[in-house]
Amino acid sequence: MENTFSVFNKPKVELHIHLDACIRPETILYFASGDREAVKRIAYEFLETKANQGVVYVEVRYNPHLFANCNVHPIQWNQKKGDLTPEEVVELVNEGLKEGERDFNIKAKSILCCLRHMPEWSPEVVELCKKYHNDTVVAIDLAGDEGLKSETFPGHLKAYEEAVRCGIHRTVHAGEAGPPSVVREAVDMLKAERIGHGYHTVQDPALYDRLLKMDMHFEMCPWSSYITGACDPDFTKHPLIQLKNDGANYSISNDGSLPMGGVALDTDYKVAKSQMGFSEEDFMRANINAARSCFLPKDEKQKLLELLYEAYGRRDF
Ligand code: NI
Repeated sequence: MENTFSVFNKPKVELHIHLDACIRPETILYFASGDREAVKRIAYEFLETKANQGVVYVEVRYNPHLFANCNVHPIQWNQKKGDLTPEEVVELVNEGLKEGERDFNIKAKSILCCLRHMPEWSPEVVELCKKYHNDTVVAIDLAGDEGLKSETFPGHLKAYEEAVRCGIHRTVHAGEAGPPSVVREAVDMLKAERIGHGYHTVQDPALYDRLLKMDMHFEMCPWSSYITGACDPDFTKHPLIQLKNDGANYSISNDGSLPMGGVALDTDYKVAKSQMGFSEEDFMRANINAARSCFLPKDEKQKLLELLYEAYGRRDF
C-alpha cells in the first residue's frame, strides 16, 4: 500500500499508547535479567521508534506496578518479584524519556494507569501522579476489563477524586469492549477529560450527542480495535467513520497493539485512508485535535499547535 498522502511524512501527535506493549524483543531479554537500566532503556528506545514515525509529541502510558513486578498474577518477563518499587519505575521511565527527548527531537509526557482488576494499586498511582506532576507525568488513566467495574470501582473513584482535587488530568479506557454505560460513568463520575477508545459510545445516541456538544476527546485506535475484536472487523463499519463525519474531537493512536516491539502508527493511518475514507485534511484535523486535547501545560500546547500549523501550511481547522 502506497503512502501517497504527504501527511504520513508530516508531524504527528499520539495520545494513546502503552509503553509495556512497545518493548523491543531484545530488550525484554535484557529486562528479564533484572537490570534496572532496562526500564530506562525501554522508555528511551520507545521515543527513538516514535520519532522515526514522525511523531513530534507523544503521551505514553503504563502501570508502574506491572513494571515493578508487584503483580500477583503470572510473573512478567521473568523478573524477580519486588526488584523495583513502582516509584523507582516512574523515575527510571522519566530518565529514559528525558534522554530520548534530547536525542531524538521529540517531546514526551507520561500517563500512569490504574488497572480495573487491581483497585488496591490506585491510591499509589495517584500519589505518583502528584509527586511527578509535570515531571513527565501529566495524567491518570484507568485500563483493563470493563466488565469488572462494580466490585472494584470505589477504589478507582477515590483515586480519580484525588486527581481532580490536585489538578491531575484524567483519561479513562471506556466503551472499548464495554457498553456506553462505562463511558457515561467515566465522564460523570471519574470526570474523564478524554475517553480511551470509546467505540461503543455511538450505540447510545443521547450520550454520544452530549459528548459531541462537550467537545469530548476520543482517543481512537483502529488497528487495536481490530486486533482485540472490540469492533466489527469490517473497517468500513468502524465508529471512527461516524466520528469523522460528525466532526467529533478524536485523534488516531496505535495503542501498542502490534506484536511485542511493534509500534507502527502508520498501520492505523493506512487503514483509515484505505478503508475509512480519510482524506489528508482529515488526518491533519485528527492531529490538531490531538494537540488541542493533549495534557501539556497551556503555553507548551500552544507551541505544539503552532508547530503543526506551520508544518501543515494552514491553521483553519
Ligand atoms: Ni489502551
